[in-house]
Amino acid sequence: MIPVKISTILLFLLFCVVANGEPPLEISREKVKLQFSIDEEGKPVYSVLFNGKEVIKPSSLGFSLNIDSLFYKNFTLIAEDRKAVDETWKPVWGEYSNIRNNYEQLTVHLKHRSGKLLDIIFRVFADGVGFRYEFPRQNGVAYFVVKDECTQFHVTGNHKTFWIPGDFDTNEYAYTTSLLSEVNNAPVVRAATDIAVRTVTDSLAVQTPLMMKTADGLYINIHEAALLNYPAMQLHVDKNGFLLSSHLVPDAYNNKAYLHAPAHTPWRTVIISDKAVDILASKTILNLNDPPADQNVAWIKPMKFVGVWWEMQTGKSTWNYSDHPDSTGANGQLIPNGKHGANTANVKRYIEFAAKNKIGGVLVEGWNRGWEDWFGNWKENVFDFVTPYPDFDVKEITGYARSKGVSLIMHNETSGSATSYERQLDTAFRFMQKFGYPAVKTGYVGRIIPRGEHHDGQWMVCHYERVLQQGMRYHIMVDAHEPARPTGLQRTYPNFMACEAARGNEYHAFSNGNAPDHETILPFTRLMGGPMDYTPGIFKLKGYAPAAPERSVHSTLAKQLALYVTLYSPVEMVADLPENYEARPDAFQFIKEVPVDWDDTKILEAEPGDFITIARREKGTNNWFIGSITDENARTATILLSFLPKGKKYKAIIYEDGPGADWKTNPEAYSIRSMTVDSNTRLKLSLAPGGGAAISIMQSE
Ligand code: NOJ
Ligand code: CA
Repeated sequence: MIPVKISTILLFLLFCVVANGEPPLEISREKVKLQFSIDEEGKPVYSVLFNGKEVIKPSSLGFSLNIDSLFYKNFTLIAEDRKAVDETWKPVWGEYSNIRNNYEQLTVHLKHRSGKLLDIIFRVFADGVGFRYEFPRQNGVAYFVVKDECTQFHVTGNHKTFWIPGDFDTNEYAYTTSLLSEVNNAPVVRAATDIAVRTVTDSLAVQTPLMMKTADGLYINIHEAALLNYPAMQLHVDKNGFLLSSHLVPDAYNNKAYLHAPAHTPWRTVIISDKAVDILASKTILNLNDPPADQNVAWIKPMKFVGVWWEMQTGKSTWNYSDHPDSTGANGQLIPNGKHGANTANVKRYIEFAAKNKIGGVLVEGWNRGWEDWFGNWKENVFDFVTPYPDFDVKEITGYARSKGVSLIMHNETSGSATSYERQLDTAFRFMQKFGYPAVKTGYVGRIIPRGEHHDGQWMVCHYERVLQQGMRYHIMVDAHEPARPTGLQRTYPNFMACEAARGNEYHAFSNGNAPDHETILPFTRLMGGPMDYTPGIFKLKGYAPAAPERSVHSTLAKQLALYVTLYSPVEMVADLPENYEARPDAFQFIKEVPVDWDDTKILEAEPGDFITIARREKGTNNWFIGSITDENARTATILLSFLPKGKKYKAIIYEDGPGADWKTNPEAYSIRSMTVDSNTRLKLSLAPGGGAAISIMQSE
């Protein structure tokens, strides 16, 4: 007699085969396996296994379209294609000089009962899967509207989850770490009064990249790749069955996407490993993006930059020239408030500081007219992007920067009025070209115009792409603030250097800041899609905001240094005031030396929410840099330098938390030591609560 358990399994298998007509299709790569089948209702269903264990249980796929509300069932499989790819490509900049793209692909060609066609392409990598929908060219399906995407990710249990609310307009929330069953964004959204625009319609919606950890130690990250011409995908959490389902950002009509076949969606990604370090080392999202269309990329240059910026954030000076938009004198001129930061003399001071310390760029905010009522009024025409305030002499400043070999970074704050920016895009970029600005920081603070659109909806996703395309045409690098979170598009648009789309260091200036574990979560969440302009490097960690003396940066000074390595970006701000660096030239040495472009990266140890240690080799040299950070708990990191070439001696300079350092009580205590190291060296680093360590390792023979 067959034991009951086995007979049930046999029966189940038989049922699958009979119901589908076919056993599930499978593709796999190392430990990851994907299965696809059509269930008894004609629903396309996939599941994902890691090491033979289910990670995503059978989960259905499909849409509700304006031309067919049931475009998620009544499908039959009409054909399948398979291929395998193993190639290596070179990013224009990044964490590695070579990236291997190695996957198995399965395309299923489906026919709906209505006769309409749908393809789904699955790719399986050694560290996860990506899949996307394609609407082939066909009779009867031309223009259509996605009312809802019905993609499910049916996870296997009540995983530990690192989440922020699924907000249509912002990603700037603090992370909550909880069980999946505890997700409820309502209190978080209510409390986040430091975020200008919040739009959350579903208290069970969370943002991606969503990071989870299972009770038995598996790490799972769900996100998307190549988000173009489509809204951002958030996830609705059904706590009962631990079922996550796609929740697309709508437009004013509650439509999600307007498509014209042939068309496809972005890739949906699930990255899986039993090691946290593998999640951070994953290149799957980048690999799912297309290579650049424009191969003329030699002008794209990663750089560090200072900015006339933190002084405004902390209230020492202002973006606005006048205190009221209507405070004009008899001759119609704005009456100055005497605190305008972007004045010629002050900007020259930053240029000099950058030149002296070999920092490539200077960002200047508040240089153009319009800051008197720049956001909050849902006003369409705020800035013209070409008219400086009277005390900002653009010719003198750009000439001075050129003479010092420093690049100026343009600032185009749109205050959410994308229509106004688009009308002026040519004018704005011609101005940058004329005065030799190689990069622009854009900004979208405020409610979006076209009114009714959201920051993360399809219209704005297309807008961000148009700005990148304009940048490629004019040879301008882009650092976007307040856009949709990134999805690996920096491969296709290598001028897409960084973006914000998360809660940056700046929250320590104008609100109660970020918890000490924030930077240990970011690489597992927001940074999975691409670099962030986090603005690290604050040295004066207390008493920097005169109007709010109780404020402090929730970090030690050594941790601020380590962030240059642990939070990768090809444009890293050197965010503090020049005088605060000049007061500590020994610690500043690390910032001067740390590169922004790398040949190789080793994720040495990591645990989301707890700690991260990363080593990277500088592009074109044998120099290595290490960053190690911890959360609110003190920690000893023991790292073996076995990645160094055997037999070579190096000089290591270790910047670490000083005796008694603590993010709360004594954040600025640091010490510096140097030693000779080689590939056999085991380094012990003592990290203070909220602390870190930064190391430069230069070849000494
Ligand atoms: C918000 C950005 O994140 C910040 O960096 C910038 O200074 C302000 N907007 C003004 O544009
Ligand atoms: Ca911001």
